[in-house]
Amino acid sequence: MIPSPPPRHRLPHAPAPVSWRDESGTPDRPPGPGFWAVTRHADALRVLRDPATYSSLPGPGELPLLRRLLSHQDPPQHTRLRDHAARSLTPERVQRFTESARERARTLLTRALETARATDGVLDLATAVCDPYTSLNLADLLGIPHADRRRLPGWTGPHALTDTTGYARHLIVHRRRYPDDDLTTVLAHNAQLTSDELEMLVPLLLTTGLAPMRDAAAGGLAVLAEHPEAYRELREGTAELKRAVEELLRLHPPLLTVRRTAAADTDLSGHRIRRGDKVVVSLAAANHDDQVFTTPDRLDLARTPNPHLSFGAGPHLCLGADFARLQLRVLYEEVLRALPELRLAGPVLLSGSGVTDGVASLPVRAG
Ligand code: HEM
Repeated sequence: MIPSPPPRHRLPHAPAPVSWRDESGTPDRPPGPGFWAVTRHADALRVLRDPATYSSLPGPGELPLLRRLLSHQDPPQHTRLRDHAARSLTPERVQRFTESARERARTLLTRALETARATDGVLDLATAVCDPYTSLNLADLLGIPHADRRRLPGWTGPHALTDTTGYARHLIVHRRRYPDDDLTTVLAHNAQLTSDELEMLVPLLLTTGLAPMRDAAAGGLAVLAEHPEAYRELREGTAELKRAVEELLRLHPPLLTVRRTAAADTDLSGHRIRRGDKVVVSLAAANHDDQVFTTPDRLDLARTPNPHLSFGAGPHLCLGADFARLQLRVLYEEVLRALPELRLAGPVLLSGSGVTDGVASLPVRAG
């Protein structure tokens, strides 16, 4: 068992497992109607597994055009599209990325280490390794030609979906003409998908697969950099990396919350929720629920079972979870091989909003 993580991984005190929060405006955000905050693991599962009561359709204050997206649909419409997407992203397809991901991690680490040794001895694992590693892996998965890859870093943030929609159309035409071993080729040759559906799925994968993946990779390494003993255990093989990946995801969920809208009047742990109310599930809080996780604030690399909710739950469970786990495992293996110690060389700079949690800079010593 490793000592408690620093306070940034702890949650702000939640007044009650289910509580009403007002949304007073901020300089960047107009005031909202308020929402129910759900912080217990059991309540989170109840909400996420019941799409008939807690809908993913765009609620008041959300853009109606989001309704086109798989992530903002409810069964049965959601089920059909999700099945098509999931059947294209088979475990075999994901496994095929192992070697290319490993090669990429090695190359990026070697290059970053060489540059660091030739200069101030410091490398930024977030910008020099995690960013290019995760975005180029996604580019491989989706079959994005090399000439277009420099555009990837720009495809995050609030306008990402609009920015990628035009590009996705071009990519679909390209992969129909020049098929390859990638997801866009498989989807573009699926006669059961309409062009509208296809032009929604490809940009959705592009945007949902980018930021959380990068934030998880750098976030997990930041937690390890703050826990040298845990890093040592992984290097010596006394802790198992597969379990460690889950525990790092539990402590550092890149998506802190997910949103639903009540589709009917209902009751949640004694609270009357009205149709149309916004319901926000805190994945980060559920991951710290002491009724499910013993000593939830502690990094416990051997924690098992570890039913964290960082990939969500229910019908919208992350479609890229297997691909994400593979990328994290391979990256951490290569970092462990390349760096005998993970020693911070400066402050970890955080990025993100109230909804996402990322690491903008993770400076460590080259050796
Ligand atoms: C560690 C990295 C990742 C994390 C923590 C993560 C987390 C999540 C979460 C929490 C959801 C559920 C949202 C909800 O319930 O409203 C989700 C959905 C989704 N994720 Fe991920 N994700 C990650 C990586 C990826 C990757 C790499 C891809 C693509 C290759 C991807 C594609 C998707 C898609 C398409 C959905 C929507 C699924 C649906 O609505 O049925 N994710 N993700």
